[in-house]
Amino acid sequence: MLSILALSALAATALAGSSATLGDGYCDANACITAVRSGGTDTWSIAPVTPIPHDNFGWIAIGFGKNMPNSPMVIMWPNADDTFTLSQREANAHAPPNVTDAPPRHATLDSTHSFSNASATGFTFTLPSSEETAFPIIFAYSGINPNSTSSTAPIRKHTWTGHANITLTALDEETGGEKPKPSCKPKKKRRSMASL
Ligand SMILES: *[C@@H]1O[C@H](CO)[C@@H](O)[C@H](O)[C@H]1NC(C)=O
Ligand SMILES: *[C@@H]1O[C@H](CO)[C@@H](O)[C@H](O)[C@H]1NC(C)=O
Ligand SMILES: *[C@@H]1O[C@H](CO)[C@@H](O)[C@H](O)[C@H]1NC(C)=O
Ligand SMILES: *[C@@H]1O[C@H](CO)[C@@H](O)[C@H](O)[C@H]1NC(C)=O
Repeated sequence: MLSILALSALAATALAGSSATLGDGYCDANACITAVRSGGTDTWSIAPVTPIPHDNFGWIAIGFGKNMPNSPMVIMWPNADDTFTLSQREANAHAPPNVTDAPPRHATLDSTHSFSNASATGFTFTLPSSEETAFPIIFAYSGINPNSTSSTAPIRKHTWTGHANITLTALDEETGGEKPKPSCKPKKKRRSMASL
């Protein structure tokens, strides 16, 4: 039994290195995040649970690590001219992060799957896959837009933050060519679960 498990774990690892599509999703009361790993590229999406229209949207970020200090962060915001800005930053403390000129993994905004309009805003970006399939992330949102398209624009402090543990596992490929998305629904509050 153990050896079968070990073998299937090995097979899963081998597949992860080649063609299998892996993914995970996480939601808390504030944000929904999905991650899909395929062909050496990780695709991340983040959007507020309560939709925030273009004119009210500040910035949103995902960071790779347990806490803000020393976690490479990908920060994104919509601009008045309907473009999006992506900025990679890192902080050595709970302080305004510095722009990283040479981030460990270069992130690219996926403008086809990012949107900001009169009803909602959400972002998608890609970056090269890491070696890990289980790792912690942080995320944050600020209601104050930097009002600049520059990736080095100063940003204001977050309004809310969150943490998650992401575990990338094989996704159902039965989707007729469409890229599979991990299912991601806001977690019910413990209180409302208990009252059921
Ligand atoms: C930003 O970089 C400067 C220069 O390296 C450093 O002194 C400062 O501590 C950094 N700030 C953060 C928040 O990491
Ligand atoms: C805003 O964009 C989302 C995602 O593409 C779309 O579902 C929604 O209909 C759009 N809303 C408006 C008002 O354009
Ligand atoms: C950007 O403009 C909005 C609307 O005028 C304002 O509320 C916000 O504080 C500005 N952001 C910064 C960083 O000044
Ligand atoms: C992530 O996992 C660590 C270690 O198992 C745990 O301490 C932490 O509470 C978890 N974080 C979340 C947001 O679930």
